[in-house]
Amino acid sequence: MINTDDQPQIVLRTHNLSRMVNGRSLVNNISIQVQKGDVLAIVGPSGAGKSSFLRLINRLDEPTSGTVFVHDQDYRDIPPRELRRRVGMVMQAPYLFPGTVADNLQFGPAQRAEQLSDDNISALLDQVGLSGFANRDISHLSGGEAQRVSLARTLANGTEILLLDEPTSALDDAAQQNIEVLLKRIIAQQNLTCLIITHDMDQAARLANRVLILKDGCLVQIGSITEVFNAKSIL
Ligand SMILES: Nc1ncnc2c1ncn2[C@@H]1O[C@H](COP(=O)(O)OP(=O)(O)O)[C@@H](O)[C@H]1O
Ligand SMILES: [Mg+2]
Repeated sequence: MINTDDQPQIVLRTHNLSRMVNGRSLVNNISIQVQKGDVLAIVGPSGAGKSSFLRLINRLDEPTSGTVFVHDQDYRDIPPRELRRRVGMVMQAPYLFPGTVADNLQFGPAQRAEQLSDDNISALLDQVGLSGFANRDISHLSGGEAQRVSLARTLANGTEILLLDEPTSALDDAAQQNIEVLLKRIIAQQNLTCLIITHDMDQAARLANRVLILKDGCLVQIGSITEVFNAKSIL
C-alpha cells in the first residue's frame, strides 16, 4: 500500500487481544491502533493488566485469543527473534548481563551474526548520555545509568517500536528526569513509535500524545492526552 503524508501509517494494531490465565482474564479483548511516531501512554491502577498487555505485544507472553499486526502482518507469521528486534522492550528494572557496557550492547546484534563497530557503540552511548562508558563493568553503574544502557541495548537492535514498562519508576527524581529528556529526544529523532506504561499522569502528559486507560484487563478509554484527561476530570 502506498502511504502518503496525509494517510497516517498504522504500525501496530491489536485485534481482540486477550490473555486468560487459570480462567481469569488478564487482558480482555483489546483492539487498538498505533500510528507511526505515536507515543501512547498506558495508565491504570496496579494490577489492571498493563504489563500483561505490553508483554503480549512482543509475544513475551502468548495471547489466548486475538492477535497483533505489525505493519499489517500478523505477528504470528514473524519469527519471534525478528519480532523482538523490531518491537523492543525496556523493563522497569534493567536486566543486564554480567560484563561491560559494550558487551551488553553487542549481545543482540551478535545473535544475528552482526557486529557493532566501536563507532556504533560510541554513537549509541552518546545518545543515552553515557559517552565513554563502553568499557565500564555494569556492576559499577548507578540505577539510572543501568537503565540508560538497557535503552541503548534496545536501540542497538534497530528497534522500530519501543515498549517501556514504567522505565523510570525505580529511579530517583534526577535520574527519572534525565531518562525522560533522553527518551523524548530519541523518540523524536528516530521517529520511534512507543508504548509507555506509567503511573505518573504528569509523565504521560510530558511524553505521550495519546493515552490508553486500562482497568481489570479492559480498555476503559483511548484518545489524545487532552481528550482523556479532560474526560477524567469531570468523572
Ligand atoms: N503470569 C501470570 N499468571 C497469573 N496471573 C498473573 C500473571 N501475571 C500477572 N498476573 C496477574 O494479572 C493481573 C494484572 O497484572 P499486571 O499485568 O502485572 O498489572 P499491572 O502491570 O497493571 O500492575 C494481576 O492481578 C496479576 O497478579
Ligand atoms: Mg506492571
